[in-house]
Amino acid sequence: MKEILNKNNIEYAYECLNKSLNIGLEFKLNNNVKEKKYYGQNFDHLLQLPSDGVELNTLLDKFKKEVLPYCSNFSNEKFMGFPDAGNSIAGMSGAILADMLQQNLINSSFCAPIATYMEIAVIKWFRELLGYKIKQPIKNIWDVGGIITYGGTGSNATAMLLARENFRNNTMKNGVNNPSDYKILIPKGIGHYSIKSSSMWIGCGDNVVEVETNNFRYNLTALKNALKENKGKVMCVVSYVGDSRTMTIENLKKVHKIVKDFDPNIWLHADACHGFSLAFSEKLKHKIEGIELFDSISTDPHKVLAIPYCVSALLVKEPEKFKLITSTSDLIMQEDYAWGQVTPFIGSKSWVSLKIWFIMNNMGIKKIGKMIENRHNTALKFANMIKSSDDFVLLNDVNINSVVFMFTNGNKNYSLEKINHLNIKIQEKMLDDGKYYLHKFALPDDNGKIKKGGILYPLRYMSGNDNISDKDLRDILNYIRNISKQLI
Ligand SMILES: Cc1ncc(COP(=O)(O)O)c(C=O)c1O
Repeated sequence: MKEILNKNNIEYAYECLNKSLNIGLEFKLNNNVKEKKYYGQNFDHLLQLPSDGVELNTLLDKFKKEVLPYCSNFSNEKFMGFPDAGNSIAGMSGAILADMLQQNLINSSFCAPIATYMEIAVIKWFRELLGYKIKQPIKNIWDVGGIITYGGTGSNATAMLLARENFRNNTMKNGVNNPSDYKILIPKGIGHYSIKSSSMWIGCGDNVVEVETNNFRYNLTALKNALKENKGKVMCVVSYVGDSRTMTIENLKKVHKIVKDFDPNIWLHADACHGFSLAFSEKLKHKIEGIELFDSISTDPHKVLAIPYCVSALLVKEPEKFKLITSTSDLIMQEDYAWGQVTPFIGSKSWVSLKIWFIMNNMGIKKIGKMIENRHNTALKFANMIKSSDDFVLLNDVNINSVVFMFTNGNKNYSLEKINHLNIKIQEKMLDDGKYYLHKFALPDDNGKIKKGGILYPLRYMSGNDNISDKDLRDILNYIRNISKQLI
């Protein structure tokens, strides 16, 4: 069959795969976030069941014409809403190879022995960078102290499962009796939905307690009070090492002291999906000091290491805690290195960590550290541009790479409703235009920049794209000014 690779159609395979690669590379280097408007178009033809096939070269042409122009380009310099640029060449190589090699890391011995070993290496590197001890020698999967998952949500869900088992051992077997006894504390208004969802997914219900914040960190008095009020019923306290909105880094040491002094058995989880990147930089790593005291840490390399989706790592301070959530079956090899025994919610497991292995070997820690510093400096520069303008207002201190701001048009007396409305409309117009992208969300006005205690709908710059220049930063501010003229 022409469609299935064999020794006779290798030339054809090269031709098609080269064409796919060219399409992908050209796409990453195009000029806008989206080439064509998606909304308002009719795509019904794409829903038709393909009973007769289309030759692959022709299909690729069709894809390029009919689908590609509507894809969002996260690698473009004008995409400034999220850091997931996915444009490391080594990362792309790792992604392509991982898909081609078809290693299944559910089992080691017959499926993926060397891939398992290399995944262990990647987890070991992250542990080392973040200051967790390394168990040596690593004799089995329970000595590693981490797992690879398909995203921060998966890592957070597994961390909550660990917290639950650590709190009430054998809940895995016996089930949850009184869900409201299994509470999780998070900072109010800035948490990532994955914690609340995880609590519900693992049978602990919607029992997340939101604690008041100051400048997007726990109000420490409120944290102490919440612990007292829920004494004996808190299984976990979550801290953000870069919250999803403002990228503020928690007072890690203080939170650790308060929680562990109150009850050493409460699981402390650091969601460092973004902030673990600072561990690569000699200059910036002091900002995340104390993270090594936490029981678990979520990291999201696909957000911060310029590698393609999807890969995350969950690290656990005491590696053997993974025994709490181990499950075995005769379908998973009960052998020392079968990941399938310690990766809840995941069965067959592709070699997604290969992308990390490639970029870390390709750039090395020092150069990655420089990239992270450059990203931080670009965000500081953008924040300064906003501070020194009289028609924008800055809402956060730049801890990592997020700049949250609103366009005021120079009017200091806008009501909360009016300024929210204007900025929501700006973001809608931006989405419709497809040239630029900044993110939007709800944020409590912790610092009273517009109205203390109010809920704001600001714009957010956050980038992991090394190609962004000062001109790009100036251009987006002018773009906002121009579109707002049409809106006001
Ligand atoms: C702080 C934080 N945690 C977890 C997640 C979830 O990560 P993922 O989308 O990789 O599942 C995100 C995503 O934005 C995040 O910002």
